[in-house]
Amino acid sequence: MPTLEDIRTRLEAVNQAHLLAFIDTLDASPKEQLLAQIEAAEPETFPSLVETYVKNKPLADLPAGVEPAPYYALAGDWDRAAARNAGEDLLRAGKVACFTVAGGQGSRLGYDGPKGCYPATPLSHKPLFQVFAESIRKASSLFGKPIPWAIMPSDLNHDATVAFFAQHKHFGLDPADVIFFPQGSMPAFDRSTGNVLLAAKDALALTPDGHGGSIRALHRSGTLDALRARGIEHLSYFQVDNATVKPVDPVFLGLHVAAADSSGEMSSKIVAKTDAAEKVGLFCNIDGRTAVVEYSDMPVERQQETNPDGSLKFNGGSIAIHAMSLDFLSRVATNPDYALPFHRADKKVPYCEPTSGEIVQPAEPNAVKLEMFVFDALPLAKRSIVLETDRVEEFAPIKNAEGNDSPATSTALQTERAARWLEARGVSIPRSSDSTPACTIEISPLTATDPAHLEGIDLPEEIEAGSEVLL
Ligand code: UD1
Repeated sequence: MPTLEDIRTRLEAVNQAHLLAFIDTLDASPKEQLLAQIEAAEPETFPSLVETYVKNKPLADLPAGVEPAPYYALAGDWDRAAARNAGEDLLRAGKVACFTVAGGQGSRLGYDGPKGCYPATPLSHKPLFQVFAESIRKASSLFGKPIPWAIMPSDLNHDATVAFFAQHKHFGLDPADVIFFPQGSMPAFDRSTGNVLLAAKDALALTPDGHGGSIRALHRSGTLDALRARGIEHLSYFQVDNATVKPVDPVFLGLHVAAADSSGEMSSKIVAKTDAAEKVGLFCNIDGRTAVVEYSDMPVERQQETNPDGSLKFNGGSIAIHAMSLDFLSRVATNPDYALPFHRADKKVPYCEPTSGEIVQPAEPNAVKLEMFVFDALPLAKRSIVLETDRVEEFAPIKNAEGNDSPATSTALQTERAARWLEARGVSIPRSSDSTPACTIEISPLTATDPAHLEGIDLPEEIEAGSEVLL
């Protein structure tokens, strides 16, 4: 632990000595806490962060040569069976772990708790974490190997997340296979001065460092090493908000490791966008590298560009699903040449005024928050493949309380997917005039995570309109 004098010298060197304004008034323990926070925030990095992101705002201008990224199309002529075989071999060899980023605050949903605890399924109202846990259990029993699951909450929801799993006996998973590790944080900077803000006399104003922070957190927490020691070579990455994600997808994993044009470092899934205005990241090819451009950074006119047949040119919408090798993640986490950039967000951050000690609640955005995005690692991969998938099969996110990507749209998509799976097995499904199912259906991941798993299961010949069916 560095001494007070050491920290003071280092802060003075970067013009941030105000962080010690109250140090002489603090008891031993809060004093130590503050010094530890300052040390962890790496004061030597402040000047370049302030210069790059606070005094200036990096331009999100697109390079002239940006094109849509090529992808393995849903109905494309490629060897799906070979990919599935390669993925299944990987799973049978026990080389895959799942990884969920769960550090967000879920403020748009207005849910007071970790988003993974949100009741997501149409009939049994299983929380998102349970849906993922059961899919992982199913895959683990199919392939005969435990599939460890790393989960990254943030300081804001870590304890509540860990307690939720304990309370629910880890949803039937072996607790040794569920690894929690905390997300890192970044200090908030005063927008006009570049001074790091104090949240209190004894604490920095810290905010989660974005899902891109997961890569350094995987490394710093020792999780990469722990997984490597268990023989894991690849992670299947997904967000906490998607109720129909396939946590373990042999076809995707197989393409990632075995496709001739894949480096096996980092791969992604897309769905076709609903329309030009859909708020998803866009898969692009920039100077020969795969990259995601967030919708907010892509000019509207470019998002509306069409191909000669009228289809959207930039049609590959990110569903934030990736496969990543541990070797690649280690390189990104430790090699400064592979450091991820930050994205700036101007926010209202309450702070402790360093002369008076008063806590100020700003009425306007006063601070710069810095976040990393995991998809900024894509251009760092030697080559990176993209797989198109079907929205109904794999993308039913819960982000907003109402409207798009809400609990209502997610449960409707879950029922639609279940209806399709049953129809594929010859079950007659009542449908309304707009062709949506006129019933509610939920299929537990323990029953099936793929329509083929319904074979041999006793199914009704038809489902009555208005009924509820839980399988
Ligand atoms: C994200 C993507 C978008 C993609 C969409 C698909 C970004 C910037 N955009 O949008 O390209 O099309 O998902 O659903 O990511 N999280 C953390 N720590 C943080 C912040 C977020 O773990 O500090 C986690 C959240 O818990 C969540 C995920 O990251 O699981 C997504 O975060 P969110 O900020 O909600 O992204 P979206 O705006 O939904």
